[in-house]
Amino acid sequence: MRVLRVPRHYLRFARVFYSRRPAATSRSRRPEYMMSSNAPEIRLFNPGLGVHFHPDTFQFSYDDGVFGPEHAELRSLKEIRAGLQNPECNGPDPVYSIVMDVGRKADEQVLKQRMLLYGVVAYAAGRLGSELVRSQGHIHAVAAHCGWSTPEVVEVWEGRGIVYLQKNVADNPGICVAIEAVPGDVVVIPPGWAHFIANADPEHEMVFGAFCDRQYAFVYDSIRRRGGLAWFPQITNGPQIEWVSNPTYLKTSLQVRRARQYPELRIDPALPLYQQFVNDPERLQWVSEPSIYAKLWETFQP
Ligand SMILES: [Fe+2]
Repeated sequence: MRVLRVPRHYLRFARVFYSRRPAATSRSRRPEYMMSSNAPEIRLFNPGLGVHFHPDTFQFSYDDGVFGPEHAELRSLKEIRAGLQNPECNGPDPVYSIVMDVGRKADEQVLKQRMLLYGVVAYAAGRLGSELVRSQGHIHAVAAHCGWSTPEVVEVWEGRGIVYLQKNVADNPGICVAIEAVPGDVVVIPPGWAHFIANADPEHEMVFGAFCDRQYAFVYDSIRRRGGLAWFPQITNGPQIEWVSNPTYLKTSLQVRRARQYPELRIDPALPLYQQFVNDPERLQWVSEPSIYAKLWETFQP
């Protein structure tokens, strides 16, 4: 069983306890979990990879047989101000901590050959002014090796996340969707869509893992010129998240919903993403070779 339910105040203890458990090797079911902004319980999830976040230092450690950067890259509040609703706001600093290129040493060559990169990101608790703690928003640059803006597949490990996506960075942003995800949930960011990832719970850190292309690079200019993406996640009165539109875009509607499953991309909802890669690396090849699903992306809805 990969999922435990514990009272919130047991979390620090439980993190230490649970991190010593072996990685999941067999199928286990992801139970249904209702997103609630005052949820009394936090689900703990075993991602099948021994990478552990330490909120006291904002650094990560690795189990034996797992590689990753010695020092996490820390993203400062100053670096993301241009994409925030209030660029002068106060908030946690650093805002988040990233280790790119992590994995089992046994998989290192396969990850490189397949141009795949796995990373883990931890967001601080708190707020950025009246906004949720989040990234500033970006579009993935076109990767030279495949000629596509590459997709990304995100799996929440701890806490509660929101992946916000919009189809275009133009007067009309097109489809705008905010996807709520709890540990074990997966969200696919399709090629070319602008997006940011937010921590939906100001009381607790949020950790996620993501597969992306090894030649990843980000495009920010068009988003910064518009002062961010089309919707800002505000949390001012109580725990409810209120989405406020960015006036530099034409006003559109926003879909807010829970994470879905992706049978069309052959993502198994019963296994951690990293385990799916270990079992069958070809299954995630579309992350670095999006042309595999070229037809599907034309009408894809995250
Ligand atoms: Fe991204």
